[in-house]
Amino acid sequence: HLGDRTMRLRKQREVVAEVLAPLRLSVTELEKLRNLMRREMEKGLSKETNSTASLRMLPTYVCNLPDGTERGNFLALDLGGTNFRVLLVQVRSKEDGGVRMKSEVYTIPPDIAQSNATELFDHIVSCIMDFYHKHNILGTSLPLGFTFSFPCSQIGLDKGILLRWTKGFSAANCVGEDVVKLLRDAIDRHEVVALVNDTVGTMMACAYVDQKCEVGLIVGTGTNACYMEEMRNVGTVEGDEGRMCINMEWGAFGDDGCISHYITPYDEKVNSESINPNQQRYEKLISGMYLGEIVRYIMLELASRKVLFKGQQPPTLKTKDVFPTKYLTNVEDPGHHYVCNILEELGMPVSTEDGLVVKEVCHTVTSRAARMCAAGVAAVVEKIRENKRMTKLDVTVGVDGTVYKMHPFFAKQLQDTVTILAPNCNVKFLLSEDGSGKGAALIAAVACQNKMPA
Ligand SMILES: *[C@@H]1O[C@H](CO)[C@@H](O)[C@H](O)[C@H]1NC(C)=O
Ligand SMILES: *[C@@H]1O[C@H](CO)[C@@H](O)[C@H](O)[C@H]1NC(C)=O
Ligand SMILES: *[C@@H]1O[C@H](CO)[C@@H](O)[C@H](O)[C@H]1NC(C)=O
Repeated sequence: HLGDRTMRLRKQREVVAEVLAPLRLSVTELEKLRNLMRREMEKGLSKETNSTASLRMLPTYVCNLPDGTERGNFLALDLGGTNFRVLLVQVRSKEDGGVRMKSEVYTIPPDIAQSNATELFDHIVSCIMDFYHKHNILGTSLPLGFTFSFPCSQIGLDKGILLRWTKGFSAANCVGEDVVKLLRDAIDRHEVVALVNDTVGTMMACAYVDQKCEVGLIVGTGTNACYMEEMRNVGTVEGDEGRMCINMEWGAFGDDGCISHYITPYDEKVNSESINPNQQRYEKLISGMYLGEIVRYIMLELASRKVLFKGQQPPTLKTKDVFPTKYLTNVEDPGHHYVCNILEELGMPVSTEDGLVVKEVCHTVTSRAARMCAAGVAAVVEKIRENKRMTKLDVTVGVDGTVYKMHPFFAKQLQDTVTILAPNCNVKFLLSEDGSGKGAALIAAVACQNKMPA
């Protein structure tokens, strides 16, 4: 029977290698992906071609990075879903404690999220008032940065038109309106100075401590990036002087089909079963919302080819999201063999070999995500370097998100691959937490400084 077992294992090895092969990208394929990203960036920046680009390359009207000398108290509002945060951010010198924050979380009840503009923004104001009472700052008027995590078309630093509601919101009389004006109409005591995307906040929070930071990156449930672009390259905004932060909305990279070569049958399954088929194609290869699902479809394939779970397809494995991305993190934990515990809990008939196979699948899927993400980062930093006409560039990327923070090797794989794909840049990644709080306040701080007469 030893012969049988050897045969079985050999077959398992062969089939696993065959199934995983399209996920193992060569450096050449990654370079191609980087070049495609670069092409789409140029397309999105140009006035003539922006309408057909999969990267929207949105102007943010954030034109300056903090230099570490900003001081003062700021208010940050963070509306990203049912949780609404109010933060008091005290920006001090490093010796004096640096950036300090006090915050409260309020919930937006569904009946208010689905009511109308008046109801929603009045509720927001009552939360702010409560915050003022609790923190004893009644009577003060603080500059305010507003992180509003819904799709907006930004037409000024303090002007953004809501394009559509997402995440269970549907309040009437908001879509098509300037959300900063809606907020201002509800509170007349504050100067709302900036509308903020969390990616931009991540870059700003990092730039406050590291002057080389010119890129913001998020790899969490979703993924997105922003960076400082020369105005002369931004065809979609008037003016050639100085720089502006561009929100790439890079999750949508490839929605025009330009990365179809990289998409496997498992990715296709994840895509077609998602709530937004054919949108956010790059994000669906990289971010936390999808990695577990990719692994699940690969396990199903291996089971149907009789090399996993004794050739049965365990019923639980057919349930959407039964293998969340946090399992990919646990499975890779070097000190433990969580893989068998997880599979047992899911009611799978596991053997040691099966455990190893599942671990390999997880490893391959995460590794591909990190390397594809690196191709994007490489395109961005190389463009910054060329903009500056430098032969060698030192640049820092401010980064946040659960996948980056929690996974045991994602960060290292990302770093290593960027080093290969952007050989003329020395890229440092710096964890930059709470862009929507700290970063939003810093955007307000920089905006205020620029308004002060010289
Ligand atoms: C908003 O909703 C409230 C409560 O349902 C209602 O009293 C109010 O008239 C509505 N306002 C507008 C502008 O529709
Ligand atoms: C800003 O960030 C949020 C959350 O990451 C995202 O959902 C939204 O679409 C972003 N972009 C714009 C242009 O508002
Ligand atoms: C994008 O392209 C369209 C079509 O060419 C053009 O009308 C529009 O002005 C461009 N967008 C911006 C923001 O300039």
